[in-house]
Amino acid sequence: MKSKNKFYVTTPIYYPNDIPHIGHAYTTIAADVLARWNRLKEKDVFFLTGTDEHGKKIQEIAEKNKKTPKEFVDALIPKFKDAWKSLDIEYDKFIRTTDKEHERVVKELLQKVYDKGDIYLSKYEGYYCTGCEAYYTEKDLENGCCPIHKTKIEKLKEESYFFRLSKYQKPLLDFYKKNPNFISPENRKQEVINRVKEGLKDLSISRTSFDWGIPLPFDKKHFCYVWFDALFNYYSATREKGKEKFWPADVHLIGKDILWFHTVYWPAFLMSSGIELPKKVFAHGWWTFDKEKISKSRGKVINVGELTSIAGVDSARYFLFRAAPFGEDGDFSESALVDRHNNELANKLGNLISRVSTLAEKYGLEKTENKLLKKLKLKDIEKLLDNYEFDKALNEIFAFVDICNEYTQNKKPWETGSKKVLYELADSIKAITILLFSFIPSTSEKIAKQFNFEICYKNIKSPLKISKISKGEILFKKIENKEEEKINKSEKIEGIVNMAEVVEFNEWEKIDLRVAQIKKVEDIEGADKLYKLTINLGKELGERTICAGIKQHYSKEELKGKKIIVFTNLAPRKIKGIESKGMLLAAVNEGHSKVVLISPEKDMDAGARIS
Ligand code: MSP
Repeated sequence: MKSKNKFYVTTPIYYPNDIPHIGHAYTTIAADVLARWNRLKEKDVFFLTGTDEHGKKIQEIAEKNKKTPKEFVDALIPKFKDAWKSLDIEYDKFIRTTDKEHERVVKELLQKVYDKGDIYLSKYEGYYCTGCEAYYTEKDLENGCCPIHKTKIEKLKEESYFFRLSKYQKPLLDFYKKNPNFISPENRKQEVINRVKEGLKDLSISRTSFDWGIPLPFDKKHFCYVWFDALFNYYSATREKGKEKFWPADVHLIGKDILWFHTVYWPAFLMSSGIELPKKVFAHGWWTFDKEKISKSRGKVINVGELTSIAGVDSARYFLFRAAPFGEDGDFSESALVDRHNNELANKLGNLISRVSTLAEKYGLEKTENKLLKKLKLKDIEKLLDNYEFDKALNEIFAFVDICNEYTQNKKPWETGSKKVLYELADSIKAITILLFSFIPSTSEKIAKQFNFEICYKNIKSPLKISKISKGEILFKKIENKEEEKINKSEKIEGIVNMAEVVEFNEWEKIDLRVAQIKKVEDIEGADKLYKLTINLGKELGERTICAGIKQHYSKEELKGKKIIVFTNLAPRKIKGIESKGMLLAAVNEGHSKVVLISPEKDMDAGARIS
């Protein structure tokens, strides 16, 4: 029996090759937001996450760490579970592809697809990127490298079983047509359809050159392609007793990079297995970190512990869904998170709660019709949440927080002691809190306790019961924006070479000092001590930008055309959103009141080395 009142949401199952980072956290929190929202609406929710543990990638990293693959992944699973706990993720099941039940279901379906004639033995000749766990053809490569990882790619020539993907081109196109909401967002859907229309090649689904995987039931020398194994997790999880009713999934949340696997391979595998298809695949955008691609090797990664340590769990959860539309890319920076924490959560929401609870504790409440609540666009917000437009939903909720703050300001309950005004505000806070619960659960629970209401859907509208309200703790403490701090520091140290410590000759040799000519001088918004300088470093190094804290010591006219000395290979730093690639040299007196630029004593070409 199918239940209409169920909601089944999944995250991708993550490769446990390292601890989870912001990208993994993003999908998992999104699934948690949807799960909480649907539980609130009294749906029977099943929220699945887990780990993708087989395949060459895991086998290789385990070998590097001198562990068996199983030992290696076993050690990482608690890190994933702890990370999700620390983010207040309430999943219903954590599946591992090494779970015996999952392996059993995959074998059963491999056999079924084989018996149907959709799997045949042949030879694979082509390329395989272990990083992607994906096959490539010659024309996909960039200078012989993987187009995603830019690393050398392995050429394969081996016996392999193939899945007749080509047979499913038409059924897939028909399915997309009949189910226009299957792929979201819309622009990504078109990309997939266009590519499918170009034609589909049969897919190699087994390898003999590694053994960390599920053996094919009809030929034990062959091990199952990791994506065939992995995708079936969504289905195998519902084979558990009592969970059958959840299939098909209501939505698979994934990142845009794995859309093809989920909207082409996955539905084709299901069609072949005779299993109903999921209702939707939603591909979200990618996060960059300080405008750069997230990359562990370049130190450009923010893991879950770092994410929550900046401004707390709820602020991190809130930021990720407020700062970028769910289907589009977003840029993460500590300073942007702190700004939203301070300006929206502390100043707007936190102040509203603190003011109203303090006054309600003092004066009490008196029941009245809540006219203020009519300004809450509840229907729109619900629609936005159901439509994955989280940023817009939060925007609407916060527009109502603004309205409540203005109302408080205008009605001045601290002067009038009006219990009715305070009731309207407290009752509105109830609605706000319930709507925010999916995003900031632990803060919402604290507010609900202060104002004595239960977090449930019907309470959004049902009037708040009069009870004693308590002031409570400060919900969001304001945080100093470290980026600003860094700028202040960098303004102080800009131009100073500290000679107090002994530097070995080989270290000194690493420093590249050059003559530079200042081409352009610009102000930087919000920085009263800094200039943005465009400098020319000659033929070899060309032009670049540096930021310098010399605004109080030099006018723009004095600087333009001036030759100065620049430390060129200093690690780039972001200052006020501008990448500063180098540092100019200046003499600075004790109290920093005098700053004098160092210039070549006679004219010298831009780019000349200082040695
Ligand atoms: N194991 C496969 C998924 C199999 S699902 C049947 C996999 N795992 S992964 O660990 O590499 O990536 C999981 C998810 O993290 C992907 O959805 C990917 O889009 C997401 N992200 C990785 N980096 C990301 C960002 N920088 N930003 C947002 N999400 C990103 O792929």
